[in-house]
Amino acid sequence: MATLVAEHVNKVYEATTPGQSATHALADFGFEASGHTFICLVGPSGCGKSTFLNLVSGVEKPTSGSVTVTAEGKNARIGYVFQDPRLLPWRTVLDNMIYVHDDGDRKTRRQRCMRFLEMVDLAHAADKYPAQLSGGMRQRIGIARALSIEPDLLLMDEPFSHLDAITARSLRTELQQLWQATGATVLFVTHDVNEAVQLSDRILMMNKGGTLYADIPIGLPRPRLLTDRDVVTQQADVLALFEQMRAEPIETETAETEGANH
Ligand SMILES: Nc1ncnc2c1ncn2[C@@H]1O[C@H](COP(=O)(O)OP(=O)(O)OP(=O)(O)O)[C@@H](O)[C@H]1O
Ligand SMILES: [Mg+2]
Repeated sequence: MATLVAEHVNKVYEATTPGQSATHALADFGFEASGHTFICLVGPSGCGKSTFLNLVSGVEKPTSGSVTVTAEGKNARIGYVFQDPRLLPWRTVLDNMIYVHDDGDRKTRRQRCMRFLEMVDLAHAADKYPAQLSGGMRQRIGIARALSIEPDLLLMDEPFSHLDAITARSLRTELQQLWQATGATVLFVTHDVNEAVQLSDRILMMNKGGTLYADIPIGLPRPRLLTDRDVVTQQADVLALFEQMRAEPIETETAETEGANH
């Protein structure tokens, strides 16, 4: 479990070609989270969701403000699941898992990875190559690989958006169970409100310009099925708020001209 603190985060991408304006990807964005909680960042395309994950993972630095992730006072272990699982085609499934581990002898690493492949029901595919698997299987391997480092914080960036609806639906159900079996804090990015309500304890709704629009607790019991009336009702409520946000004018002028000292 991790503690994540983001305070007054601004991220400005400077123009790279003349005539282009700078992009204010995140504007005074912030929240705190800790414990065994599943958080979804929801927002329209370009609102800064992936940018925020890149700041959390340390791939990028904020222009101003701060993002810290700790686990019991120490640096947190962070796992990352991408939209595309980024498996190396020339390595077997098991070798794709093992190479992210740099501790212990090969036998120990192999056993650990097999345990996580079993968790996603893919132990039988250990010696196959990624091209021999379906898209859903590859994404489950991406998830197993991220979980196998036993992360305090798991970052997931639209992990199911490339999959067909039926596969995505069953992976959402599987992910709920997997997460409950781990102690990880999860930060899951999606532009799909229904997915966010089904999965999360808390939804951070982001608006264009990289601002936080709403912080919504989701207290529904798990497992959550799309046929549960309470799930459907809450999905409709959150979607209504999302549409309300989309209908409001956005002060892009302010976001772009205030720069990093906001
Ligand atoms: N490396 C970069 N250089 C310049 N601009 C960038 C860079 N990365 C992101 N941006 C810009 O920052 C804004 C936020 O992008 P980001 O990728 O975080 O959005 P997103 O919410 O993840 O969108 P999507 O749902 O489409 O994935 C966009 O306007 C994007 O064009
Ligand atoms: Mg993105």
